[in-house]
Amino acid sequence: MITASAPGKVYLFGEHAVVYGEPAVPCAIERRATVTVEERSDGRLRVHAEDLSLDGFTVEYSGDGETPDVDVSPDLVEAAIGYVDAAVTQARDAADASDVGFDITVDSEIPLGAGLGSSAAVVVAGIDAATRELGVELSVEEIAERAYRAEYEVQEGQASRADTFCSATGGAVRVEGDDCRSIDAPDLPFVIGFDGGAGNTGRLVAGVRDLRERYPFAADTVSTIGDLVRQGERTLTEATGSDPNAVPDVVEELGTLMDFNHGLLSALGVSSRSLDRMVWAARDAGAHGAKLTGAGGGGCIVALDPTDETETALRFTPGCEAGFRAALDTEGVCVE
Ligand code: MEV
Repeated sequence: MITASAPGKVYLFGEHAVVYGEPAVPCAIERRATVTVEERSDGRLRVHAEDLSLDGFTVEYSGDGETPDVDVSPDLVEAAIGYVDAAVTQARDAADASDVGFDITVDSEIPLGAGLGSSAAVVVAGIDAATRELGVELSVEEIAERAYRAEYEVQEGQASRADTFCSATGGAVRVEGDDCRSIDAPDLPFVIGFDGGAGNTGRLVAGVRDLRERYPFAADTVSTIGDLVRQGERTLTEATGSDPNAVPDVVEELGTLMDFNHGLLSALGVSSRSLDRMVWAARDAGAHGAKLTGAGGGGCIVALDPTDETETALRFTPGCEAGFRAALDTEGVCVE
């Protein structure tokens, strides 16, 4: 039996646009998904999953498409099982063991489908644990590659490498097409607001794609996000290795860019009333900037605020279920 864990993430900038080859900067956060895997001889999969959005469900299935009968939203169960299945397929392929079955327990501190990279973390930790259980040790790069393939399959070809690479390596990363690398970033004062909901990544990505194909100005909006990310990268580069007293200015500038990024994502139709409410609550509380994170439609926002004001304000914001601080996690996938 092997247990591995991997971190979730927030997008400082660039979600959605990254799907079309623009750069993005996700940052791993200290909230992890933990996956325990034990081989079984009958070829079946038994998945027990628990996280902030699921009360906990157990399903046993042969992976032949049968729908488990459990008392949680079918959309969420389908999403969770889709990602676990895809991770299992990758692990079986990597270990050249196509018929092997597993008992899998997913224990996650990351709400499902809420923009904090829960599916990427589950897939990354799942591939690492399942391959190790079969006696194969993959490099972090190969785990990231296989996790990307798994997400790509579940999201029907509409996934970037950003979430999976960030979860595999930890820290702050920069992703542009196939080019993925770790970058230096100061310890940013992230505050997260969670509305208790979730967005359907596939549907939201498809919505942006339709707008982009229909209207040249929507395509321009996507490339403007790319310009904004490049500006953000310059700000981050100036910040690293420089006088720590300069960091407040850096945070202010990053916040301004985050506000701009949220506006552009809103224009692309991926915000929601509750996400906008939390973004405004953070700004009114004095955050340097705030934006939705991930696919949108519901779920989480991320704000930059070194004080307690945003966290307090979020606690009193209608529609906000949880407000909490999240630190950058420099540790990627690891064995527990
Ligand atoms: C989802 O967390 C981020 C998106 O950019 C999709 C992707 O990059 O695969 C919306």
